[in-house]
Amino acid sequence: MKRTVLITGSSRGIGRAIALKLAEGDYNIVVNYSNSKDMADNLADTIRAMGKDSIAVQADVSDYNQVKKMFDQVFDRFGKVDILINNAGISVYGMLQDTSIEEWHKVYATNVNGTFYCTKLAIPKMISQKYGKIINISSIWGLVGASCESLYASTKGAINTFTKSIAKELAPSGITANVVAPGVVLTDMSDQLDEEALEVVREETPLGRHSSPEEIADVVDFLVSDKGDFFTGQIISPNGGLVIQ
Ligand SMILES: NC(=O)c1ccc[n+]([C@@H]2O[C@H](COP(=O)([O-])OP(=O)(O)OC[C@H]3O[C@@H](n4cnc5c(N)ncnc54)[C@H](OP(=O)(O)O)[C@@H]3O)[C@@H](O)[C@H]2O)c1
Repeated sequence: MKRTVLITGSSRGIGRAIALKLAEGDYNIVVNYSNSKDMADNLADTIRAMGKDSIAVQADVSDYNQVKKMFDQVFDRFGKVDILINNAGISVYGMLQDTSIEEWHKVYATNVNGTFYCTKLAIPKMISQKYGKIINISSIWGLVGASCESLYASTKGAINTFTKSIAKELAPSGITANVVAPGVVLTDMSDQLDEEALEVVREETPLGRHSSPEEIADVVDFLVSDKGDFFTGQIISPNGGLVIQ
């Protein structure tokens, strides 16, 4: 039976690149989106034109009821989720004293709660079949912190520790869990940064450039493939040398 991959936040950016990369393999692809219905539908059409089964499913990952409905739809169509990519995420840039209580809760609800909700709903079937892969998209800022991004960086730090913990808990059930923690990737999210800030990061990056979404998708593809089977609890950071630990 074909494996089914669910990629949260795959209407645009890194998630979209992951969906397209994995569509080259032998998977059913579930494209999740929050608002961008047309982009998600177009992507699912593109994947079907590649000869793979694909559906686009709306769910705001910060809302448990919507996530539950999404999983019910996916289970009705494909029976299970074998590979879960928790990619949906939002960022807020600004000084900590200017960060509102609403922003704090919204970014945590999306990045951290969303990762928990999807993982919680995916794992019972993974456990019963003794196979599953979970890949959580974090960030270098979750490794080393970032001025003016305390909120975003701390959600990514939480994702890192969550992933290490579930890797230990779920390994006996045949499930692996890893983090991909990119540096700056050119997407709508990095477009929110001003050009000067992007240029500073580029100059500080030993390889002297930012990443494309496709380069991140290649790392995810490796982890999802059989070649990645012995990785669990790891943080893999494609970042051009910006962070070397
Ligand atoms: N870009 C970077 O420099 C960078 C670096 C390191 C890590 N990351 C991480 O990589 C992931 C993807 O980032 P990106 O740069 O591709 O971002 P992006 O271009 O802004 O795309 C975000 C994607 O997430 C979806 N999304 C946002 N909120 C959602 C929600 N509540 N429920 C479901 N989907 C939601 C969006 O769906 P809609 O289109 O429907 O809004 C969209 O598909 C994020 O976790 C981000 O933190 C990005």
